[in-house]
Amino acid sequence: MDGKGKLYVVGIGPGDFKNMTFWAMNAIEESEVIIGYETYIDLLRENIPDKIKNKEIFETGMTEEIDRAHFAIEKARGGKIVSIVSSGDAGIYGMAALVYEALLESDWKPGDNPDVEVIPGITAASACAALIGSPLSLDFAVISMSDLLVPWEVIEKRIRSAAEGDFVIVIYNPKSKKRTWQIERARDIILEYRSPDTPVALIKSAFREGQKVKITTLGELGDDSILGMLTTVIIGNSTTFVKNSIMLTPRGYSSKYEVKFSGRK
Ligand SMILES: C[S@@+](CC[C@H](N)C(=O)[O-])C[C@H]1O[C@@H](n2cnc3c(N)ncnc32)[C@H](O)[C@@H]1O
Repeated sequence: MDGKGKLYVVGIGPGDFKNMTFWAMNAIEESEVIIGYETYIDLLRENIPDKIKNKEIFETGMTEEIDRAHFAIEKARGGKIVSIVSSGDAGIYGMAALVYEALLESDWKPGDNPDVEVIPGITAASACAALIGSPLSLDFAVISMSDLLVPWEVIEKRIRSAAEGDFVIVIYNPKSKKRTWQIERARDIILEYRSPDTPVALIKSAFREGQKVKITTLGELGDDSILGMLTTVIIGNSTTFVKNSIMLTPRGYSSKYEVKFSGRK
């Protein structure tokens, strides 16, 4: 034993037990200390109560991410095995970047104390897509509507580029109590490039209590009670369609090879 601590940065998936990886579960089980935003700690209590029993647990509020990252590093530097948890994938709008930023500020490098392992998880885009069919089968772009850390002009440029490039567009953080107009502005930009009939899916609280799914169109996308901090919006590209409640972006095999998807003989 070299006295080094270990810091796991764990993506716990969108919400329920079956969407957590074995890797994530094993890391949490092995850890002496668990650190996370209170909602995610609650999800662990709900989903894997036995695996977090008798551990030191530190829950913090939503705006305390930087403190959380520093605290986790400090604990791990002291020789503990620590898991800092993020919903979905920890590397996608999650804690992994904050942990590495703090570590690199202190000139940490791989091999130093603590050992660091980022454990990927199922991100909201994949979880939400799975609930409605297969809308992300071709190139897609993920854009957050939150202008807290990224200026709105930059976000708008990204929306326009993705729309022009005919990417399927996945929108994270579409709306909050204070941020209400961004999703409608995004819709108006995308409508410059796409038909109002373009399929759109709104998925709220995927794989959590209160899960809701709504399929609509780009033209109809507007102020909607399903939109909020826990909603992901998926906007189809020019080939995406909805049939029998399934939203599909076809891979393109049928146009290239005259394949019939009527079952193999
Ligand atoms: C700060 S980002 C975190 C993303 C997370 N790290 C991931 O990989 O899924 C938060 C946004 O992710 C989306 N999101 C996270 N969990 C979700 C869920 N269970 N259902 C629908 N959307 C979700 C929402 O758009 C929310 O505003």
